[in-house]
Amino acid sequence: MTVAMQTNLHPAWLPADAFRAIGSRRTVISATTSDSPLIDTVYAEVRAACYRFGGTVTRSSVDDDTDLMLRLTSEPGGLGDEGYSVGRADGITTVTADGPAGLLYGLFHLVRLGGSAFTGDPVTDDRATRTHRPAVRRRMLNHWDNVDVNPLMGQIERGYAGGSIFWRAGALTDDLDRLRTYARLLAATGINAITVNNVNVGRTEARLLTDRLDDVATIAAIFRAYGIALHLSVSFASPMVLGGPPTADPLDESVRAWWAATTARVYDAVPDFGGYVVKADSEGQPGPFAYGRSHADGANMLADALAPYGGVVHWRAFVYNHRQDWRDRSTDRARAAYDHFAPLDGQFHDNAILQVKYGPMDFQAREPVSPVIGAMPATRLAVELQVTQEYTGHQLHVCYLGPLWSEVLGFRFDGDGDGPFTGDAGSTVAGIAEHGGSLVAVSNVGDDPFWCGHPLAQANLYAFGRLAWEPAADPVVLLDEWISLTFPADTVDDPALVRGVLHAMMDGSWRTYERYTAPLGVGFMVRPADHYGPSVDGYEYTQWGTYHFADRDGVGVDRTRAAGTGFAGQYPKPWADVYESIADCPDELLLFFHHVPYGHVLRSGSTVIQHIYDTHFAGADEAATMREHWQRLADAGLDPALYARVADRLDEQVRSAREWRDQINTYFFRKSGVPDAHGRRIH
Ligand code: GCU
Repeated sequence: MTVAMQTNLHPAWLPADAFRAIGSRRTVISATTSDSPLIDTVYAEVRAACYRFGGTVTRSSVDDDTDLMLRLTSEPGGLGDEGYSVGRADGITTVTADGPAGLLYGLFHLVRLGGSAFTGDPVTDDRATRTHRPAVRRRMLNHWDNVDVNPLMGQIERGYAGGSIFWRAGALTDDLDRLRTYARLLAATGINAITVNNVNVGRTEARLLTDRLDDVATIAAIFRAYGIALHLSVSFASPMVLGGPPTADPLDESVRAWWAATTARVYDAVPDFGGYVVKADSEGQPGPFAYGRSHADGANMLADALAPYGGVVHWRAFVYNHRQDWRDRSTDRARAAYDHFAPLDGQFHDNAILQVKYGPMDFQAREPVSPVIGAMPATRLAVELQVTQEYTGHQLHVCYLGPLWSEVLGFRFDGDGDGPFTGDAGSTVAGIAEHGGSLVAVSNVGDDPFWCGHPLAQANLYAFGRLAWEPAADPVVLLDEWISLTFPADTVDDPALVRGVLHAMMDGSWRTYERYTAPLGVGFMVRPADHYGPSVDGYEYTQWGTYHFADRDGVGVDRTRAAGTGFAGQYPKPWADVYESIADCPDELLLFFHHVPYGHVLRSGSTVIQHIYDTHFAGADEAATMREHWQRLADAGLDPALYARVADRLDEQVRSAREWRDQINTYFFRKSGVPDAHGRRIH
């Protein structure tokens, strides 16, 4: 196997230079399992680096004259399939793993360490051995890629980086090198599972399960070399769509037999196939409700078909009434997933994993953590994040999401949930995902030369993989890691300047985005359909259940038990009480839980209306400052195409942030009649 290097593509966090420290040294790979494709991959990676930087690599068990030893243990040493240890003694850096995947992850760990992997204590040059294991077993990306171009959604649903890297107008891509390059990037972050088709499964996409299995096997072989298992999104109605029985009833024997036989053929083609992802009874997708069956019945049927092969089904909990009447204030979309799924706790089979979006609505820049995540202790849960910036600026805006995810992962259902996650899993979201075994995110990648449209959006993909491996990692440290890899010191004129500018732009960019968009957790206010840019009432009189209820007196959704929809009661204490109380509810979620007058005084001391004005002026100013920061890099020796791409997108972000500011401020000024205390211009 050779390591693909494509010159027309941005190398993201694996530029050739990232391998300089390894490639300029002498490496020995000591592994008795010579037939693992992952060991071949490790060897090929090191060999390619040595070719470039003058080092050597041999596959042997002798460790004379070496700087780096990559060693597979002959007896398992408690590191698990993917864990590894790194230490340094007698001038040799050693990575030890029990399994081939561990050696691959150990290699990428060294890449992150760079030159410092080969230095130790200033006196002894030794370094204590440290062990690394992934917190979450399955670290999965879901691609919402369509095989056929969808007339409404294009080649990728909610994709902002061009076409699909997997599919082109109905066919498998012929650029398999690009898939290899992608697999390598993902493995370097720790991702070990992907789906390659949209959760909304069309007719062509459904056939991946049957007569398009060759395509699936081709992709699986590429990703296998980097320890990444392929999963498929499947339609619950597959039997009916694909020539099986005329029903999809999960308790019908002929349907169960069809799934068993179909799944057996999938495993014939892809022996290490990961399993299925299912969006059922959700936004028009078929599901078990049509047969009067529960979602546990539906998920368990697929789990049973996968069980003989060790596969899993990820069953999504995104089930709500998407045809509600805006006049009806008692129906609350936020309640829906809990109402549907919490009563089913304990009914799912062990290889059925319930995949829950992190918030009760839909990937907003600010939502409370979904109460479903804390309500199903007898069910394996996966937590779903969104790397693609559907509601966070379409990869036209800089919005580094690591801090948002870190807050979500650190949220404790038993209290003290504010602030970033520092590692005590307990009843945290991360702990629950660790127990359930999966952290999942919707990918932001397309066939754009910068992978993600916005070059800086690569940091989100990187941070997701790293957080799935280590949820307690500090997202700003991860960002720093990404900067070091993506902009290696040797390749830019002033590395400290580049680092400083990127931190200044990105560390707080999620909060900046939050400031200039929907206020105080109320959410949406985006243009319907494409979800970009402001449209305060765009969803207000629609069927989608995403309302803010602003009138001349106040704004927000009453989700209290006392007077509202009762959603606050879906949380355990203390959160049920914290969210119920206007006085205790955190400011950033106030309008998610309460309808309050514009003059209501927040915990911060500001009124709601003044807070809206202040944050929107500040947020738009911060976007403008981001652009000024970037301009400081005009002569810093960056790739000119990258510099220009970011500069263009910052122009759009500044324009859009101003538009948000003016539409939101004007809307609320006109509704409330309350002037800005600082007399700034509102239209
Ligand atoms: C959002 C998104 C849809 C997507 C859905 C999902 O509603 O707008 O495009 O299909 O989430 O997660 O299934």
